[in-house]
Amino acid sequence: MRSSAMLSVRLLLSFALLLLCGYRGALSGNVLAFPGEYSHWLNMRVVLEELVERNHSVTVLVCSASPSVNYTKPEGFSFKVYNVPFEKRAWESLTDDFIGYWMYQAPNSSTLQVGLKIRDILAQMTALQLKMCDTMFHNKELMDNLRQSKFDVVLSDPMIPCTDLLADILGVPLIVSLRFSFGMSMERHCGQIPAPPSYVPSPPLTYTDRMSFLERLHNFVMYMIQSSLFYLHCLLTLDKYYSEIKDSISHG
Ligand SMILES: *[C@@H]1O[C@H](CO)[C@@H](O)[C@H](O)[C@H]1NC(C)=O
Ligand SMILES: *[C@@H]1O[C@H](CO)[C@@H](O)[C@H](O)[C@H]1NC(C)=O
Ligand SMILES: *[C@@H]1O[C@H](CO)[C@@H](O)[C@H](O)[C@H]1NC(C)=O
Repeated sequence: MRSSAMLSVRLLLSFALLLLCGYRGALSGNVLAFPGEYSHWLNMRVVLEELVERNHSVTVLVCSASPSVNYTKPEGFSFKVYNVPFEKRAWESLTDDFIGYWMYQAPNSSTLQVGLKIRDILAQMTALQLKMCDTMFHNKELMDNLRQSKFDVVLSDPMIPCTDLLADILGVPLIVSLRFSFGMSMERHCGQIPAPPSYVPSPPLTYTDRMSFLERLHNFVMYMIQSSLFYLHCLLTLDKYYSEIKDSISHG
């Protein structure tokens, strides 16, 4: 008898606790979204709409040359647009090249050729994106405005290389949304996802989880190549850039 009364009290307490947690969850937050482009944007947009539905305040940070975010269209979330010194067309032509290569030439090229070509295209994209990041970080009015907005969290797509750097500079926690990176390099090296090469095909390979011995071997080599390229890319491009920006922000 006594123990069943204890049990009811405990159940009641758990229930009250659940309600409290639910209540805390319903408090609305202030979210800064830093999306990627194309499918990355479509992917994040669904999340943002859901956040707005739950009464969170969402601001989307977007550059004036965005090829896929239509910031003139009225939405449930607001846009913060900053100008960049290039046109939407620059993004689009790089993307067209990339998709054309991946669809029509990559399937008939060697692993090494694909790796090198991806590196080449990514280098051009990174140059464009870093130009965008540069303009953003050196836009004092924008940065002050972002600081004053007191965001609770940055929701970003690491397709754009400096989104984590922005969260770091604003001193705000970061949540990442990513479809996939080549060789799943970011997910494996930055996010520690397990990707055993015998079962998980490495993008851009189109195998499934059932691979023959030779396909597994191919997959393994692709992982090695993509990992090395990613490592070199971070070492030669991003590390230096991040240090420069952090230096210039802390001294200016
Ligand atoms: C959002 O706010 C509206 C109006 O204040 C309220 O009616 C609605 O229940 C809230 N929705 C959630 C999920 O909290
Ligand atoms: C963006 O949205 C505006 C307003 O809804 C619309 O007039 C315009 O055609 C859209 N632009 C693109 C490129 O879809
Ligand atoms: C790629 O190779 C396949 C099979 O050898 C062939 O059918 C296809 O036409 C080739 N595609 C291109 C773009 O060369």
